[in-house]
Amino acid sequence: MRILGIESSCDETAAAVVEETADAAKPWVVRSSVVASQAEIHREWGGVVPELASRQHLRDICGVVERAMAESQTGPRDLGAIAVTQGPGLVGSLLVGLAFAKSLAAVWDLPLVPVHHLAGHIESLFLEHGPLPLPAVILVASGGHTSLYEVRQPGRYVPLGRTRDDAAGEAYDKVARLLGLGYPGGPVIDRLARGGDDRAVAFPIARMTHPDRNAPLLKGQWDFSFSGLKTAVLRYVKARGAGWTPSATEAADICASFQRSVVEALLDRTFAAARWCGARSVGIAGGVSANSRLRADAMAGGERIGLQVFVPSLALSTDNAAMIAAAGLRRFHAGVRAGDDLNADPSLRLV
Ligand code: KG4
Ligand code: ZN
Repeated sequence: MRILGIESSCDETAAAVVEETADAAKPWVVRSSVVASQAEIHREWGGVVPELASRQHLRDICGVVERAMAESQTGPRDLGAIAVTQGPGLVGSLLVGLAFAKSLAAVWDLPLVPVHHLAGHIESLFLEHGPLPLPAVILVASGGHTSLYEVRQPGRYVPLGRTRDDAAGEAYDKVARLLGLGYPGGPVIDRLARGGDDRAVAFPIARMTHPDRNAPLLKGQWDFSFSGLKTAVLRYVKARGAGWTPSATEAADICASFQRSVVEALLDRTFAAARWCGARSVGIAGGVSANSRLRADAMAGGERIGLQVFVPSLALSTDNAAMIAAAGLRRFHAGVRAGDDLNADPSLRLV
């Protein structure tokens, strides 16, 4: 069976066709994956402007879906279903993909499967690597979320922890803006950090140990926090006086030191949670999983303790529709179908 996936939750318009195979070691194959990024449009503003994002999704969605169908040599009759991101995300952006998917499903008489964006990121690991050894502990670190899940059964994601404030990708984007490095911040900080000294500046590494005051029933030992780190970078820059711009070496040192703090915080919690759960594997997904240091340190950490670590390929790390199609296949087989009343939900919970 082939499924068409559609994703438009933030600033990427994406469509993909994923096919099921009979190979149990790799049950899903990407037939096509098309992503139209709006990064150029939002760069000027230093972050995503929701209204501009929805307008651009409207311009791009027809062509992106057409290309995904053409590149995979798929016609409507080759499809068994359509999967679409229902949330979370920017409501105007979500609505474009959702309305388009609903219309296609009606016209082509296909079932429609709603997908949670983070389920898509988690399933990107299964799409890339086939079934992970379970139980798995999975970190999703993106521009909007930083959360840890335990997966004991395929398709069931049990939350273990999440960020109390900024997401890891958001911290990258905000620090890049502060240093005048442009948007999105992750790739540029990643590149500059390679030439810097990661011990040059002693930025804090948050390890949450106390319960969340806003959710006291949660133990909070696997939670993250990145706003203190962002403020520490801000203070460091301000202390250098108005109008200060870092030299190339200084910028590289700040980026490397900031990145060490982020990566250590992410991996410390992830591996601690994996030990606590008796996990047989660790997965890291979401845009921040494209980070070269996070990938290298995660692999080295896994090797040290004899735990398999999985990351998606770079194309499946950042937002794409192949992961939505994969999560859609999983949900399709679980019997999930959307009715005509399906609506976008900007704060959809992953259950
Ligand atoms: O998953 P994603 O594409 O979109 C959301 O669901 O948010 O993640 C985007 C985030 C951005 O904050 C971006 O700066 C970050 O992922 N990112 C990176 C890297 N590439 C993208 N962060 C660190 N290092 C990277 N190489
Ligand atoms: Zn994402």
